[in-house]
Order: sequence, then C-alpha cells, then structure tokens
Amino acid sequence: IKNIAVFTSGGDAPGMNAAVRAVVRASIYYKKEIFGIYRGYEGMIENDLVKLNARSVSNIIQRGGTILKSARSKEFRTEEGRAQAYQHLKARHIDALVAIGGDGTFTGLHKFYEEYKMPVICIPGTIDNDLAGTDYTIGYDTATNTAVDAIDKIRDTALSHNRLFFIEVMGRDSGQIAINSGIAGGAVAIIIPEEETTIDQLIEKLDETARNNKKSSLVVVAEGGKSGNALEIAQQVKERYSYYDTKVTILGHLQRGGAPTYFDRVLASRMGVAAIEGLLQGETDVMVGIQNGKIVYNDFELTMSKEKEIEAEALRIAKILAI
Ligand code: F6P
Repeated sequence: IKNIAVFTSGGDAPGMNAAVRAVVRASIYYKKEIFGIYRGYEGMIENDLVKLNARSVSNIIQRGGTILKSARSKEFRTEEGRAQAYQHLKARHIDALVAIGGDGTFTGLHKFYEEYKMPVICIPGTIDNDLAGTDYTIGYDTATNTAVDAIDKIRDTALSHNRLFFIEVMGRDSGQIAINSGIAGGAVAIIIPEEETTIDQLIEKLDETARNNKKSSLVVVAEGGKSGNALEIAQQVKERYSYYDTKVTILGHLQRGGAPTYFDRVLASRMGVAAIEGLLQGETDVMVGIQNGKIVYNDFELTMSKEKEIEAEALRIAKILAI
C-alpha cells in the first residue's frame, strides 16, 4: 500500500475531524501518501479528492462536523456508481480506503471491496452508537453529553412550572443516546425501540410518582421508539392523564454539532491510528472497534449480523431510580 484515501460519510458526528487528523498523520508517520475525498461516496464518484499533509489537519481536533464534508450517496448503491468511483481512484493510484461513518457507510464499503478487492477499513463514526463490535462509536459521547445538558436546562423550567416534558433524542433505531441521557438526566421514564413501553405503563409510572409527591417529570423518548415519536406519545398521554401541563422538546440536530468531548477525541485518535496500522498489517473489509478498552478489528458480517443491545444493567438501574 502506497496511497491511501480517507473520507467521512453518512450523518456527521463530533470527533470525525479528530479521526481524519489521526488517519492523515498516522499515514504520514508510516511514510504513505494520504488523500482526502470530499462528501464521501459522492466525491469518489465525482473525483473530488485532494492530497493532504500534516498541516492540512492542523487545528481540527477540537472542531465538530467534518472538514471533508459528508453525504449519503444514492449513486454509490448502484454498480455503475461504484465502477465510476473505482475508475477515479485507480487513475489517482489510490490503493486503500479508510471510511469514517456508520452502518450505511460500512455496507457500501463492503460491496466495493467485494467487487474490486481494494483494501478497505471502516472507523465507526456516528452519534447513534448502534454498531455491534464496538463499545463506542465516535460522536456518541459528545451527543449524549449535549442531550444531558439540554435535559438539565429543561429540568429547571419543568420544575418551576410543575410540568411534564417529553424530550426526544436522536439515535435512529437505537436507544443508546436515550437510555444514557435519560439515566444521567434523571428521567422518570425512558422510551426506547429495544423495549416496549405501553401508554398504560407510562401513565401508571407518572401517576405513581405524582402520588409520591413528584411535582414535575421528564420522559426521554428515542426518536425510533415503537410507540411513536415524542409528539405522538405526549398527545396520547395528555388525552388520558391531565395531572400535568405537558410540553414536548425535540432536540434534533443540535445533538450532532459542537466540540467533541475528550473521550471522543481520544477514541477518534486511537481508532484513526489503528485503522492505518490495521491496513498496513493486512486487515481489510473490517471495522475498527473498541471493546473493554482494547482496539479490535471486526469483519463486516460480524458487525452487521448483530444488533447492538442495550445493557440490561442500564435498563434495570433506570427503573430502580425512577420513583
Ligand atoms: O445517524 C445519525 C442521525 O443523526 C440519526 O440519529 C438521525 O436519525 C439521522 O442521522 C438524521 O439524519 P439527517 O441528518 O439526514 O436528517
């Protein structure tokens, strides 16, 4: 391997820049040429890439977003799109790829590897923390901290007015952000896709805590929850339970921005170096992960065949504490 290209793809996540920096500098450390592809697979198809050096990634470790920009490419899902991307990469003598993104990114990369056998490696970058094979994805810690910060602020006003707030957090089909921001924010209930909560159960919990002298309440709702989104759930509760004045806050894309936490910066730095070292040691079609504090390489099937579970302990303590 002489020439490596790096790109970010899918939803951006805080810490992606720190990962780009680590990939670029590790490549240079190991005497390889490193290129950056703009807008993920879109840029690959459009031949939008530049050579990077150590200074190209100065002053980005602390910045949210991604300097390489990101996109979700429909064209790369087609054989023609991938063929075009390969032609461009070949013309620039790129012989390995590092992708930073989530499951959609890894799926595209796997297809590309199967077709063209170019060495590829994926770094998990998504706020959702929804990939099996890694305890954490880059961006999740920052996004969860952002959610907790917002929940704390909502708590102040909820308490002042004796209100019930439904706070919707991101995560796509995963309840990881919800469960941990809910525990850290002291939510009375946390509604996640991985566990069924009926409206009856929710009202029962709200009523039980109100009878226990609770004056205001926060319910954290994962956006992918099976009982509906926060607005729908709040509406159903309102119709049947009028003890509280009820409000809804959707945190939305706020959770995707901001400076990465120390945790995400270190995780991104470790994973970026591990991606280059893995590639140079012959790892391909794998995702870098972190398990019990150690770097691991998981192949595509292993990562994609399993759903990442919510820790049973987290579910248990959330319930013990919400009284
Ligand atoms: O995958 C990251 C994520 O922020 C999800 O939590 C959310 O469902 C989705 O992306 C939103 O996507 P978009 O930015 O395209 O609206």
